[in-house]
Amino acid sequence: MAWTGKCPGCGEWNTLVETSATATGAGGPARKRSGVAAGRPVALREVSAERVSRLATGIGELDRVLGGGIVPGSLILLGGSPGIGKSTITGMALANLQAAGAETLYVSGEESASQVRLRAERLGPAALEVRALAETSLETILATIEAEKPAVVVIDSIQTLHRAELNGAPGSVGQVREAANALAEAAKRLDVAMILVGHVTKEGSLAGPRVLEHLVDCVLQFDGEKERTYRTLRAIKNRFGATSEVGVFEMRSGGLTEVVDPSARFVEEATGAVGSVVLTSMEGTRPVLVEVQALVNPSELEIPRRVVNGIDRNRLSMILAVLARHGGVGLGTSDVFVNVIGGVRIDEPGGDLAVALAVASAQRNQPAGGTGSKPLACFGELGLTGDLRYVGHADRRVAEANKFGLDPVIGPPGGDSLPGLAPCATVRQALRAAFPDERGPVAV
Ligand SMILES: Nc1ncnc2c1ncn2[C@@H]1O[C@H](COP(=O)(O)OP(=O)(O)O)[C@@H](O)[C@H]1O
Ligand SMILES: [Mg+2]
Repeated sequence: MAWTGKCPGCGEWNTLVETSATATGAGGPARKRSGVAAGRPVALREVSAERVSRLATGIGELDRVLGGGIVPGSLILLGGSPGIGKSTITGMALANLQAAGAETLYVSGEESASQVRLRAERLGPAALEVRALAETSLETILATIEAEKPAVVVIDSIQTLHRAELNGAPGSVGQVREAANALAEAAKRLDVAMILVGHVTKEGSLAGPRVLEHLVDCVLQFDGEKERTYRTLRAIKNRFGATSEVGVFEMRSGGLTEVVDPSARFVEEATGAVGSVVLTSMEGTRPVLVEVQALVNPSELEIPRRVVNGIDRNRLSMILAVLARHGGVGLGTSDVFVNVIGGVRIDEPGGDLAVALAVASAQRNQPAGGTGSKPLACFGELGLTGDLRYVGHADRRVAEANKFGLDPVIGPPGGDSLPGLAPCATVRQALRAAFPDERGPVAV
């Protein structure tokens, strides 16, 4: 036993919790084992598996991300930064479930019942039928769930709960783990589905309790910028569905509205101006067009600025290096700003070419695609050797861009030739295709 304040595993302070180990020694596990009857493994074919029907939340985008609705008795962790709309979306889901005949319970540890009511008024009459409990005591919440046996419970938020006999403030690792464990046990035993709302730290991970992530069946992450209206919902983990689906929402006065055709929204204002390019990106199984903008300015700083919004900063550094080395676009003395419109985040490598062409367009002060009346659409990953790499679903990406009149689309050469695609094998070729009067060092 030693005094330890900092966790040797993760390097964080105040994350260690005391746990009591079961007494072992004489009469311990070794002796007991002989008296225990062995379990009987069963061939999986003989295991009965009822097909459970999922509970539809009535929010199409949420149901899709969940893999078709809430599985009864499952545990869902919903993470997101404050103000992103976690209480709103869970309130809306419960309202729909309640209206469809499922019993619901909304436990608020953060807001008083009257505050919850005010939000419900904004969401509409169905939201007022949801039963609410303003409570932070874990024991009381468990007793209530036991007594009421609702089909779906929302705990908003897991970080506000505490068990009286346990040391540590609400939100500490010990309390959060205890609360989540007790709730998980109740969920399985009573067949109550639970949505645990969790805050996200500044670093972007679900606050403190990584332990929660493997305890729950599904981890949903709500992203977006508070000041912007668009929000995306993705599954980071899902025992009952794919993790690639993304739901897109818009915050309105009546709550969160699903954005069924995100492409139309994201590109409707794209004009083909200098420094603007449309990326045909894939969000799960769905192609989505997003506008990528860049601004390049002579820098007054010794180390020029690289400012990004919606893409990874290191990714931009790599793209700039490839542009300089293989595209003849030198930006060593320029500030470079890259922004993905609408608060969208691109985290697929297929976005590289769009960033490169937006930056190149800004640098040469010339619209990509030549005409300037329509934006240029493109996709593809940049290799460090200056080649344009294949990325998945080329056909769907091209079809989506064509649907919005963007033709041709610059992308890597695929297996089959696609009518709307202008295939380019290297970043140099892509620059030539995007800027038809491109001269400079040839060699493709
Ligand atoms: N009448 C309204 N019209 C539009 N947006 C609103 C309205 N009222 C609140 N909001 C927005 O809803 C968000 C709060 O959502 P909420 O679900 O409470 O977030 P969370 O629970 O994730 O902290 C805020 O960003 C706020 O701007
Ligand atoms: Mg909230």
